[in-house]
Amino acid sequence: MLLDASRAQDVAEAASLLRAGQIVALPTETVYGLAGNALDPGVVGAIYAAKGRPSDNPLIVHVASADDLPSVVREVPEAARTLADAFWPGPLTLVLPRRDVVPDRVTAGLDTVAVRVPAHAAFRAVLDAAGVPLAAPSANRAGSPSPTTAQHVLHDLDGRIPAVLDGGPCAVGVESTVIDLTTTPPRLLRPGGVGLEQLRAVLGAVDVDPAVAGDLAPGRAPGSPGMKYRHYAPAAPVVVVEGTTAQAAAWVRAQEVAGVAVLCFDEEAAAFDGLDVVTYGSTTDPASLARGLFDALRTLDRPEVTRIFARCPESDDGLFRAVRNRLLKAAAFRTVRPGP
Ligand code: TXA
Ligand code: MG
Repeated sequence: MLLDASRAQDVAEAASLLRAGQIVALPTETVYGLAGNALDPGVVGAIYAAKGRPSDNPLIVHVASADDLPSVVREVPEAARTLADAFWPGPLTLVLPRRDVVPDRVTAGLDTVAVRVPAHAAFRAVLDAAGVPLAAPSANRAGSPSPTTAQHVLHDLDGRIPAVLDGGPCAVGVESTVIDLTTTPPRLLRPGGVGLEQLRAVLGAVDVDPAVAGDLAPGRAPGSPGMKYRHYAPAAPVVVVEGTTAQAAAWVRAQEVAGVAVLCFDEEAAAFDGLDVVTYGSTTDPASLARGLFDALRTLDRPEVTRIFARCPESDDGLFRAVRNRLLKAAAFRTVRPGP
């Protein structure tokens, strides 16, 4: 069932399904989430089953405001209050010591729980009406790019879930930033809608988990279990081609181009003219890249595409870091740097 987030009775219907123990896909400002009552282990099990998600990858719990934190976490450190004041509601997730009411299935058995207060008006209305914290991973089949439209959700989950609340395309387009506040200094586990510089501006020192840049030592686990999976990837292998536009275009044209598709910045399309080109935004506007990336990766999931050469921002400032991380993960961190 497709519900319309701009209709009050559809928002109420989504909330009543959730109250009845069903799972429903909801829009957030980052990506669509597959929501269910976070305090009901059976419901949480249904979320994992619908996604085909490995059970060792914990879920984010969504609450209506920072005042609800003590209902799911044991302690609210000063840093959590500071971040909540600065960035909630919004695309930031805090990892904190969990309370026992949070089922093991939500946290994959960890002693911590990830919590965020989303900004999307429809999600907030559903949270209020449902009256329970909502566990919500991204509403994609495990391994696929996160959904940024209701159509993406239907593509992955139609027939597996009772309803999707359509709120149009997501404003941010990449998932929330995840920060672990149980370590000193706090540690960035997943770059996202809130930039590392913004976190450091209010918190001071913040470490970056090595898994974010793909340089996890062999045998070491990432701080965020989800970071270990190949992810966000179309069926065809992706390789990031570094260097200038001209260098990258010359390198790509020197390859066997049958089955090749190119994912590039808007301003580079002409340089790859004649090839199968998908653009995802302007390199001068990181927000446009974040909004366009997952849709572009889904567009590239076509049987005739057997190899994808992708252009990735080289900056790690602000939202660029999240875009870079998602695209490098889609490429399993394979990059080539053409010579001059
Ligand atoms: O923007 C978002 O965060 C979206 C929307 C729907 O809110 N949700 C989302 O959820 O991206 P998901 O499940 O796709 O990603 C959650 C990430 C995973 O990498 C998971 O491993 C990590 O958060 N995570 C969850 N609980 C954690 C915990 N206790 N400690 C460390 N990482 C955790
Ligand atoms: Mg996800």
